[in-house]
Amino acid sequence: MDFPIANRISGVHGSMIRELFKLGADPNTISFGGGNPASETFPCEAIEAIASDVLKTQPVSMLQYGLSEGYLPLRRRMKAYLAQKEGIDFDKNELFILSGGQQCADLVTKVLVNEGDVILTEEPAFVGCLNTFRSYGAKLVGVPMQADGMDLAALEAALQANPNAKLLYTIPSFQNPTGITTTLEKRKAVYALCQRYNVAILEDNPYGELRFSGETVPTIKSMDVDGRVLYAGSFSKVMAPAFRLGFLVFDKSLTAPITVAKQCTDVHSNLLFQHICDAYMEQYDFEEHLNASRAVYRRKCNLMLDAMRRCFHPEVTFGQPEGGLFVMAFLPEGMDSQPFVREAIARGVLCVPGAAFLADESKVSNGFRLNFSTPTDEQIVKGIEILGALTHEWIAQNKGV
Ligand SMILES: Cc1ncc(COP(=O)(O)O)c(C=O)c1O
Repeated sequence: MDFPIANRISGVHGSMIRELFKLGADPNTISFGGGNPASETFPCEAIEAIASDVLKTQPVSMLQYGLSEGYLPLRRRMKAYLAQKEGIDFDKNELFILSGGQQCADLVTKVLVNEGDVILTEEPAFVGCLNTFRSYGAKLVGVPMQADGMDLAALEAALQANPNAKLLYTIPSFQNPTGITTTLEKRKAVYALCQRYNVAILEDNPYGELRFSGETVPTIKSMDVDGRVLYAGSFSKVMAPAFRLGFLVFDKSLTAPITVAKQCTDVHSNLLFQHICDAYMEQYDFEEHLNASRAVYRRKCNLMLDAMRRCFHPEVTFGQPEGGLFVMAFLPEGMDSQPFVREAIARGVLCVPGAAFLADESKVSNGFRLNFSTPTDEQIVKGIEILGALTHEWIAQNKGV
């Protein structure tokens, strides 16, 4: 049968990264392309112990249908954690456990955004969520990123130009793909602008717990006085991504529609893994686990940045991430990074061109994203040496072209 694919999916072009990954499938390729957390951070033994215990002592309650809102002990624990850490007021807010940060974006869009509505987004931004927005027929309007967060003048211009904007999408801490952390001043200004133009904010914070240098910056949700911030967290980078667990904090007025949306999508999230998360935080030292993960990422990030400073052409610029899994480097202004990345893959190093993360996919980007969490130390050094040599050749050949 010839299946005519529905517009909501046929209009989503998620192909660039997949196509590049196919090119980089050679086992000898050094991959800076993925976004997986470092597998050595998974608390495997603890997970095994908790799972085998609960499956012995209360198998039926773990295998039966659960609540759409999430496993109550884990919801209570996360509320207490966020109330204490971010000052979030759970008299006014609700928290659901959902199937990953990705589903948080999915259900927020499902509930708040009609086809044709505008979603403003940092540009570049995480392509997984951009594609979710696209799949609901939203029109994406990008707001360029600067070294300290969104360009506020561009944000205000976009808010003025798009009175049907429903949502602003932001990843304020250790952004995927740039590694940028939005400053406190900019977080306040972003919130104030969204208040003035009456737009809701989706604050996506899957990397927030992975700060390995610098000072903590409060979340935008912690400043929220009128319930406009929907806050998405994830267990993917602090426990294990295959759990497919995240959490969404939202104004209580949205409880009924978000419950319905969750029921329509997958009824509830995996109960056994919700129990494991809860029991892990109860029985083990979660802060110590986070500190061990932060140490892994600090070391790998520094190794990559040192190698980049040593090997890259001086006209290639990059910031210094204070957490998360990524750093983005930029070829000189106006140079397209896509042919550069293809050549890098031909030489055995995979990274992702910045164009993959743009709201407007027809635009050119001079950036390329590098992931430091998955490659080994040796791969980081060798891969950056190869990329560095390429930056020297590439810039010498292509400058002024
Ligand atoms: C910014 C951002 N948001 C959301 C997600 C989705 O994460 P998950 O669904 O695994 O929680 C990711 C994953 O890489 C991400 O980088």
